Amino acid sequence: MSIIVSPSILAANKSAILDDMLLAEKCGAKYIHIDVMDGVFVPNVTEFTPDFVSKYHASHGMVNDVHIMVEDPLVLGPIFAKAGADIVTFHLEACEDPEEVFATIKAIKEAGAKVGISIKPGTPVEALSLFYEEVDLILVMSVEPGKGGQPFIEASTDRIKTIKEEIEKRKLSVLIEVDGGINQNTGALCVNAGADVLVAGSYLFGHEDIKDRLEALLSL
Ligand code: DX5
Ligand code: ZN
Repeated sequence: MSIIVSPSILAANKSAILDDMLLAEKCGAKYIHIDVMDGVFVPNVTEFTPDFVSKYHASHGMVNDVHIMVEDPLVLGPIFAKAGADIVTFHLEACEDPEEVFATIKAIKEAGAKVGISIKPGTPVEALSLFYEEVDLILVMSVEPGKGGQPFIEASTDRIKTIKEEIEKRKLSVLIEVDGGINQNTGALCVNAGADVLVAGSYLFGHEDIKDRLEALLSL
């Protein structure tokens, strides 16, 4: 299967955001990654609100890949789904217990989106165990969530491998996405470990040669 690249608009030009999204699409991106931060689950806040998603989701043909780094995914997940997110990925760590995780997955699905579940670098992979059958995508954070431009955490590749083995063992078609510090070198490590979707922000946006960079990731 070919690699999917999901450019993160956290690194895009905020005063010409649609232009940057369309540029990413023209360069071959099939997904567009939208980082939602609430200032509680992570210290920063982003301007990517449900209104932002509903304003732009149909202005391009890419999959709206919405990553919610928020304290209350059970409430916000379905709101982003209804606003036009195609995939809503929430954090396992934001939920109190497995019941809340199951309820969040159900609420996002009922609101019409696919569901991703994400783990921070310090969360054991085993914490995902109950949820493989319920989700469409698993997002492995390869930096601490909260900001762009951080260096890739090398141990992420072993985590991807373990998740890939589990998906194969259970005969599922869950996608593995990786987010944080992705460039051509780290992207290659992740693809070799079993990643299907590469999120990249600062490696792509703001560079003259974005097309070459995106094509380099797509051809991994
Ligand atoms: C970080 C975000 C990432 C971020 C990645 O919390 O989830 O999507 O945009 O940025 P880079 O690619 O610059 O590490
Ligand atoms: Zn992200």
